[in-house]
Amino acid sequence: MSYENGKIPVLHEVDLEVQRGSLVAICGPSGCGKSTLLHLIAGLDQPTRGQVLHDGQSLHRDRDLTLLLRSRIGLVFQLHNLIADLTLTENCLIPAIAAGLPKGEARLRLARLTTATGLQHRLGNRIQDLSGGERQRTALCRALMNDPQLILADEPTGALDEDSREQVFALLVDLVRSAGRTLIMATHDRSLADRCDRVVEMKDGRILS
Ligand SMILES: Nc1ncnc2c1ncn2[C@@H]1O[C@H](COP(=O)(O)OP(=O)(O)OP(=O)(O)O)[C@@H](O)[C@H]1O
Ligand SMILES: [Mg+2]
Repeated sequence: MSYENGKIPVLHEVDLEVQRGSLVAICGPSGCGKSTLLHLIAGLDQPTRGQVLHDGQSLHRDRDLTLLLRSRIGLVFQLHNLIADLTLTENCLIPAIAAGLPKGEARLRLARLTTATGLQHRLGNRIQDLSGGERQRTALCRALMNDPQLILADEPTGALDEDSREQVFALLVDLVRSAGRTLIMATHDRSLADRCDRVVEMKDGRILS
């Protein structure tokens, strides 16, 4: 995978297979390609060579499949990518309504997710008025609104204090263990990585182990 038409090579011969229902951490120094790899898996970027398969099917084979996969994949962006002028509730309802979830059901899900992440008192706040850690948890709630089979989380706890970090990780672990979801999480947090089923070590765009 490279950026700017091959001028900036980022990933090299990356070969990764993740089992459904597992909890995988991706670790490695800043700039090694963790976010790039998550974006490829999500279908936001396309590999220069090779392919990304979900349940054996190519992500970009046709548009319908891509649309289907979009609602089956929840991505927590490292920089959150929330809409600053809108409220927490509005940010989270957008993907749910886009996916066709009835508004009442969407609000119920949001209530459950915000309670699980300690954000229930911030529903009506605009993103620009939230703290960094609150934004990070909002981004997680938004990613989980459509109950995705595959959760891709890019540093989901980087801005959190220890209690919030534990709360968020417990929610993610529960989704994997109880609901059979799959989690791939980029993290610099070794103690969290060590609690995952598997740690994928990256360096200079390659997978070491
Ligand atoms: N859109 C882009 N255009 C050009 N280069 C990019 C782009 N996105 C990332 N890069 C480069 O690709 C490399 C890998 O970036 P990436 O964001 O995947 O690293 P990372 O492992 O997630 O780092 P961090 O731990 O700091 O988040 C870096 O050298 C970065 O500068
Ligand atoms: Mg990154």
